[in-house]
Amino acid sequence: MIKELIDTLFEFQNLPDGDLLYILDNMDANTFDYLSRKADEKRRQFYDNQIYMRGLIEFTNFCQQDCAYCGLRKSNTKITRYRMKLEQILDCCEKGYDLGFRTFVLQGGEDPWFNDDRLEEYVRTIKNKFPEVALTLSVGERSRESYKRLYDAGVNRYLLRHETASPSLYESLHVGMSLENRKRCLHDLKEIGYQVGAGFMVGLPGQTHEDLVMDLRFLYELKPHMIGIGPFIPHSDTPLANATKNTIDLSLTMISLTRLMVPDALLPATTAMGTLDRYGRERAIKAGANIVMPNLSPIDAKQNYEIYQNKICVNDDVTHCRGCIEMRIKNIGYEVNMSRGDHYEFNKSNQQY
Ligand code: 5AD
Ligand code: FES
Repeated sequence: MIKELIDTLFEFQNLPDGDLLYILDNMDANTFDYLSRKADEKRRQFYDNQIYMRGLIEFTNFCQQDCAYCGLRKSNTKITRYRMKLEQILDCCEKGYDLGFRTFVLQGGEDPWFNDDRLEEYVRTIKNKFPEVALTLSVGERSRESYKRLYDAGVNRYLLRHETASPSLYESLHVGMSLENRKRCLHDLKEIGYQVGAGFMVGLPGQTHEDLVMDLRFLYELKPHMIGIGPFIPHSDTPLANATKNTIDLSLTMISLTRLMVPDALLPATTAMGTLDRYGRERAIKAGANIVMPNLSPIDAKQNYEIYQNKICVNDDVTHCRGCIEMRIKNIGYEVNMSRGDHYEFNKSNQQY
C-alpha cells in the first residue's frame, strides 16, 4: 500500500493530503529506504549526480524579529551583535571566488541598518566586482518595492523560509508576524523574477504530521526554486530552550517527499542536518538533496551567528570545509559542481546574469 502511494507520487508529483499523512504516519526504515531511492532517482532526472556549492556569508546578526526558536532573536541579549563592513564582505567574496565558488549567499537577520540605499550599495559593489557570480540575498521580510530595487541592483536569488505553513503554529512562534505576509513576500519575489527559496523546520515543539502535510501542500503550490529543510535544534537562550526531539529521520523523510513533489527544486543538505548527525549532510544528499553551503564568514562572525548551538564548522576555515565536503561527496558517489548552479528552468532558458 505505502509503496504504491510512493510510486504514484513519483509519477504524478502529487497525492491527496490524506495519503501524504498516511505515508508520514506509517514510515519505517524499510519504506524510507524505498522512498529515498525514488527521490534520488527523481533528482538525477534533473541534476544528475551533481552537488552544487554555495558560499555563505553571514554579514549581520542584528535582528528586529523575535522568532521563538532563533538565537538571533532581538530578546536574546546574550549574543554579541556584529555587522560586517563592505570591505569585509568583499574579502569573503574574494576568498570564495579563489576557491571556485560562483554563488554567494548574503544572509543576515532583519537588520534595520540595512535600508534599501545601504543594501543596494553593497549589492552593486559586489556585483560589479564579480559580475558572473550569482548573488543570493537572505535578509527577511521587506516591501515589494525593496525587493524590486534589490533585484534591479543585480540580486539573482532570494531565500526566505516560510518556517511552517501551519497558521496556528506560525502565529505561536512569531509574535508580531503573520504567515500571510510571509507568503506575500514569497509571491512578490517570484513575480519580480528572483529564483526563490522557501523552506521549513522539522520537529518544532507542537508540530504534527498534519502540519508537515501543510508544508508539502504549500510548496507544491508555490513551486519555489529552492527549498531549505532542516531539523529544529533548541537554543538555550530562547523560550524553546527545553524542547528536545531528535528529528533527523523525519527531516530526511520530508526531504525525499519534497523532492518527489517539487522535482526540479534545489534542496540543500543543511548545516542543521550535519549538526545533529555526523553524516547528516551525506544522508540528506542520498535522500534527494543537491546543494551544500560552506561558510565563507570569518571565524568570529561564525561564532556569533548562533541561530542554534554547536553548529558544525564554526572553527574551521572554509578552505578546510571545501576539501572536507569534496571528500564526503565523492565518498558517497556524487560529484562537486562549482558552477553557478542555477535552477533547471533558468538553465534551460539561459536567463540573465
Ligand atoms: N534550529 C534549527 N533551525 C533554525 N533556524 C532558526 N532557528 C533555528 C533553530 N533553533 C532556521 C530558520 C531560519 C534559518 C536561517 O535557520 O528556518 O529561516
Ligand atoms: Fe530573526 Fe530568527 S529571530 S531570523
